Amino acid sequence: MKKIGLLTSGGDCQALNVTMRGVAKSLYTNLEQLEIYGFLNGYEGLIYGRYKLLSKQDFSGILTIGGTMLGTSRQPFKQIRVPDKSGLDKVRAMKENYYRLNLDCLVVLGGNGSQKTANLLSEEGLNVIHLPKTIDNDIYGTDITFGFQSAIDVATNVIDCIHTTAASHNRVFIVEIMGHKVGWLTLYAGIAGGADIILLPEIPYDIDSVMKSITARSKAGKGFTILAVAEGAISKKNASLSKKEYKEKMAKSKFPSVSYELAYEISNRLGSEVRVVVPGHTQRGGTPNAFDRVLSTRIGAAAAEAILEEDYGCMIAMINGEIKRVPLKNVSGKLKTVNPGCELIKEAKMIGISFGE
Ligand code: F6P
Repeated sequence: MKKIGLLTSGGDCQALNVTMRGVAKSLYTNLEQLEIYGFLNGYEGLIYGRYKLLSKQDFSGILTIGGTMLGTSRQPFKQIRVPDKSGLDKVRAMKENYYRLNLDCLVVLGGNGSQKTANLLSEEGLNVIHLPKTIDNDIYGTDITFGFQSAIDVATNVIDCIHTTAASHNRVFIVEIMGHKVGWLTLYAGIAGGADIILLPEIPYDIDSVMKSITARSKAGKGFTILAVAEGAISKKNASLSKKEYKEKMAKSKFPSVSYELAYEISNRLGSEVRVVVPGHTQRGGTPNAFDRVLSTRIGAAAAEAILEEDYGCMIAMINGEIKRVPLKNVSGKLKTVNPGCELIKEAKMIGISFGE
């Protein structure tokens, strides 16, 4: 008999349900007796004891359904150790609920912040397995996270749609792509969608260089330019500020995001209109694509295998095409950013994509 807790935490993505399905189906196939408890709305459910006992049936028919059937919430790691308004010690409450249900293991589907809490609970003695979820693909220790490929498809489709209208109107378009700290999604969708300029948080841009690329295109007879700009793209000027100074500057800015500020600057210099398109949360919505369905099924099955072997305190990672267990303590708290010198960027530059340097 095994008793497993499941929770989905942080921003959602398309492949959460399919991953939980992978875990559950593998366990049901290999265990005679099993109880799976789904905590509602992420760690909140574990803190306040809000959960439901799931049945085998609950994991049927969810392969193609995005979002999460358990609900999710953001519980910033910084606040996890801080008591709630009523003075409740959250870490203690989570442990008590875990032990009250007599769980053998807690499976956490989440991003970087959720992973830190998973690691903390593991250090506190709970049996925890972390499954790397995020459209940002920024989890250290795994080559890929589930949700990333589906989000690339959505963002690429947006750029594809913008292409036809940009060409018809001879306009400059900025497509703002999710990713405040890292540019993986912007890089992949930008290349897949044929963006002319890609701006990432990891490569501060120079407005003069951006303008040079736009004018070079128009001199070559191309009336339109598409920029794929990450939410966290930053100019060289701003990159020289301290974090605090930059935060204050952005708070005072009249623009809702870097993309709009950039559009304003380009438009002024160009003397023509520039449009901004923000696909926003659509990038996390809809159905998981085929790649994610396979990846999530593999990750789910591997998590079940670890549970059967009672091997805990790990993240299920994909490394060089192989599914591996990585100790949580080795990866927690680290961010996987885009290396500006990586092959993909070199290749993108080879075909003439500008990174605004
Ligand atoms: O962490 C994933 C992510 O999609 C980021 O790329 C994005 O900036 C953020 O979540 C927005 O999340 P929310 O609006 O849910 O706080």
